Formats: sequence, C-alpha cells, structure tokens
Amino acid sequence: MALLEVDALSVALPGMARPILDHVALTVAAGETVALVGESGSGKSVTARSALGLFPTGADVSGHIRVDGIDLVGADAAQLRTVRTGVAAMIFQDPRAGISPVRRIGDFLTEALRLAGGWSKARANARAVELLAAVGMPDPARHMRQFPHELSGGMLQRVMIAAALGGEPRLLLCDEPTTALDVATQAEILALLGQLRRERDLGLLMITHDIELAAASCDRIYVMYAGRIVETAGAGDLFATPRHPYTAGLLGSSPPLDGPLERLTPIPGAPMSLMESAPGCAFAPRCRFAEPGRCDQAPPALEPHGSGRVACHRVDELALAHSSPGTEDR
Ligand SMILES: Nc1ncnc2c1ncn2[C@@H]1O[C@H](COP(=O)(O)OP(=O)(O)O)[C@@H](O)[C@H]1O
Ligand SMILES: [Mg+2]
Repeated sequence: MALLEVDALSVALPGMARPILDHVALTVAAGETVALVGESGSGKSVTARSALGLFPTGADVSGHIRVDGIDLVGADAAQLRTVRTGVAAMIFQDPRAGISPVRRIGDFLTEALRLAGGWSKARANARAVELLAAVGMPDPARHMRQFPHELSGGMLQRVMIAAALGGEPRLLLCDEPTTALDVATQAEILALLGQLRRERDLGLLMITHDIELAAASCDRIYVMYAGRIVETAGAGDLFATPRHPYTAGLLGSSPPLDGPLERLTPIPGAPMSLMESAPGCAFAPRCRFAEPGRCDQAPPALEPHGSGRVACHRVDELALAHSSPGTEDR
C-alpha cells in the first residue's frame, strides 16, 4: 500500500464552470520523491492540502485520498488528528509566513511539540534542539533563542522543516518549498530533503511549477493542467521524451538549470480559470497540435503510453513524429 494514494479525487465549488480537481489520481510510496508540476492555478496546492483533510470551504468532494490507509474524504476528527499529528506534515513556500516575527525559534518549535504530544517543557526543549541539529542548523542551542528576522530565508526554511518533522511524519508534503529562495539555498534545501528522505524513508510529494527542478530532484512526475493529471512518467523519461504537448511546452518554457536561456519559448495564452470550461481537452485552446473537431469534443482520458500515462487525443501521432527524425511533427 502506498503512503499516499489519491484516487479519482474531485473537488468542486458551487457556481464555478469547472471543478478545481477533476478525477486526480496519484501515489507516493515510502522512500519515494514524487513531483506534482503545473502552472499557477492548476490545483497543486489544493491537492496537497487535501492530504491533510483540508478542503476549500463549501466544496463538494468525491473520490478518495488515503494517507497510510486513512481516507481523508469523510474522515472523522480522530482520523484527521492521527494523519495531521503523526503521519503527514506540510512545508510551504514562504517560511516567514508560518512563524510569528515576535516569537523565538525555540518557543515556536516547543509549543507545537507540547500541543501535539503533551510533552513537558524540558522534554520538548531537548527534542527541538535535536530537530534543529537534524536539519543541519550549526548551533541549535543558540538558534533556539533567536527571532525569525535573525535567520536567513534558507535557515528559516530549515526551522520549518524541523517543525514538520516534530510528529515523526512519514509523508512530507512540500508546497513550492524552495520557490522563495535563491538558487544556491534552493539546492541546499533540496539536498536536505533528500537526506531526510533517505534517513527516515519518507515519502515526499514535491510541488513545484519548475519542471526542470522536478526532473532533477524527483523519481516520478505528475503534470497537472486545469485540475487534471495530463501526463505522468518516471522523471528521466518525462524529461527526455515528453508526450503531452503541455509537458513539452513546460520543458521549453522553464529556464534550464545549466545552459543558456535561449530555450525560453513560453506556452502561448493563459491557464484556464475556474470560470471557464472546455468540452474537450482543457489545453486545446493553447495547444499548437490541437485538431478541430477532435481535441475540442471530449476530454482525453489518462491512458498508458510508453512507460507512463498521457491524456492527449493525438499522443500516438505526436510520439510517432517524435521518434522519426526529419519528420515534421505536424
Ligand atoms: N479555498 C478556496 N476557495 C476557492 N477557490 C480556491 C480555493 N483554493 C484554491 N482555489 C482555486 O482553485 C484553483 C487551484 O488553486 P491551487 O491549488 O492553489 O493552484 P496551484 O497551487 O496549482 O497554483 C485556483 O483557481 C484557485 O483560485
Ligand atoms: Mg500553489
């Protein structure tokens, strides 16, 4: 059984033209790093929050999202507590948003431990020092006495990771954990997450809009567009042979980790808002391969293709063109 098992998860708000999430399926096993990639507004954060049983207020939710076998759709208070305090934890993009500027790092960490575990002050203190050491803080005892503004963004993100580890989670939901950091710090935080994953056999769900970062740091990738998974494959395969035009567009449009910026060819148009819907493939209006009368008729199903799964009506033809050199892809 996978640690995180999302199965036909749909989340819809009344009055919107389309659901926020539409039959999303994904899994994360222990020891695995899985990326969820897509442009802003595609539904990545809603997916991650669902794994803690946090659904948008008033949303109509169907399907399943199981964390260590507990289904968060329809979970009772005790089950929610089990998942949130002992199985799954989340870290966010902006560490400064998650911590009060007027409280010391030590108080922030020990308070969470004491609330969740009912620990004594001394025991929580010792544990907080241990956690700060585990995330590579060089002088934990001194850092305990510091205020957030005395730490860099990278150091503060380490504190947030320490806090997330407090409940000994097995699933870490990382929502754009390095987006607010400079490139060097980004690499350090990714290395730390990788180290913690190995040491603790964590399952990591890594959310990012940066597909090259995902390809470089994850085992498998899910690509999301307008609330649907449009492609999934092993990171290497997906990077070398993107099958969905949207995935290919993301790869063309994100600045490469090393190399010139010349490859920048943004996907034309804007992602679909919740006020818009399309009878066919949601990406068709922006897709240079879209075929009228076909791609705009019914949504494509996510079906096995190569080593992964792809939701594209034209996947066979496009893959054919991809593999025969000299052939124009249209
Ligand atoms: N609590 C909410 N209430 C209403 N709409 C929401 C809520 N949370 C997210 N949305 C909408 O759902 C869509 C997906 O949001 P989100 O998951 O945050 O996107 P991403 O993380 O991929 O940028 C967006 O259109 C967003 O405005
Ligand atoms: Mg988000």
